[in-house]
Amino acid sequence: MKIALAADHAGFGYKDKIAEQLRAQGHETHDFGTRDATPVDYPDYGFVVGAAVASGRYDRGIVVCGSSLGIAIAANKVEGVRCAAVVEPYSCELARRHNDANVLALSERLTGWEMVERLVAIFMETPFESGGRHSHRVAKLAFGVAEQTKAEADLARGYVEGAQTPKSLL
Ligand code: RB5
Repeated sequence: MKIALAADHAGFGYKDKIAEQLRAQGHETHDFGTRDATPVDYPDYGFVVGAAVASGRYDRGIVVCGSSLGIAIAANKVEGVRCAAVVEPYSCELARRHNDANVLALSERLTGWEMVERLVAIFMETPFESGGRHSHRVAKLAFGVAEQTKAEADLARGYVEGAQTPKSLL
């Protein structure tokens, strides 16, 4: 697969090791930076990997920052991106099986390297359970401004949480 990688100054060390891990497994990687400890802004790096994956030029993306959180929030701002910030194996597996996550966000300050190596392997190897309820739900994530406006209007009219969800989807 073709994998887009990026990190801020708090994550570039893991980003470089992840690139080595992926290349050793036969994947093609592209490094969108950063390459040293000079402080940079994590949104710039989340956005670029998000855009790279959303464009279809890369199959998946992996981003790293100090906590995993800021860069994940940034990546998820790009339409078409489903970025999961994970710290343990089961949520990583579910991010692929149920959410078809196309970008993985990792933390260099909070997660040890052995765990990160494992999370990368799970992210790369776990398939999406397509064709059933998960496909339907992931398709909903792609809804745009019109649906957002409708949801806001529904809330303003006093909808109770989940009230619009047909039982068949639960
Ligand atoms: C940088 O100090 C840190 O704030 C950043 O790497 C990340 O953790 C933000 O969410």
